Amino acid sequence: MKALGISGSPRADGNSMLITRHALTAIAEEGIKTELISLAGLSILGCNACMACLKEERCIIEDDLMPIYEKMKAADGIIIATPVYFGSATALVKGLIERTGYIVRNSGGTFQGKVGGPIVVARRGGLTFTLAQMYYWFETMEFYMPGVARWNIAQGLGKGEVANDKEGMDGAWKLGKNMAFLMKTVHAAGDDKPRR
Ligand SMILES: Cc1cc2nc3c(=O)[nH]c(=O)nc-3n(C[C@H](O)[C@H](O)[C@H](O)COP(=O)(O)O)c2cc1C
Repeated sequence: MKALGISGSPRADGNSMLITRHALTAIAEEGIKTELISLAGLSILGCNACMACLKEERCIIEDDLMPIYEKMKAADGIIIATPVYFGSATALVKGLIERTGYIVRNSGGTFQGKVGGPIVVARRGGLTFTLAQMYYWFETMEFYMPGVARWNIAQGLGKGEVANDKEGMDGAWKLGKNMAFLMKTVHAAGDDKPRR
């Protein structure tokens, strides 16, 4: 089993990366392989509604999306972390969820049976709104999602500041532990594949 963490900030090595690494450490402690990737520096455009993914399981826009989609498809658990940008997920994350979401929708729900969850970081405003935005996506992709008391949100502005938000860091840790439990449970039940 493998868990993939995706930092959806255009800022390299910032708070999203730090807190996702923390959640993945909690998962790795339970004996599950982990990989952390960052979307910083990548080009991931929004969906252009061309509908090419109705015919084949890929997006024809030539940017950095498809290798990320392949990694997501191969993972049993996925965390997507995003900073709040003007009350919402970043454009990178929007592009990622729009286009992988449409590929998945048109290819038989290839994310069903995976365990997932978002993490949202911000200085202050828009945390729960953005968390809800992300939850809607995970839900419609039919991920199994664990709950986390007081939600998977954390505060910080400058690089690394999120580490000072103990409650936020503890929430991410708990997300990792709950995801590891759920991944093992779903795997043992043989329910980690799309139901056709
Ligand atoms: C373009 C932009 C928009 C932002 N909008 C918000 C916002 O709406 N609310 C907020 O609390 N913080 C906002 N922030 C601050 C970031 O969410 C915060 O610095 C976060 O920790 C960045 O995460 P990162 O280090 O992973 O990039 C914004 C930052 C940028 C660059």
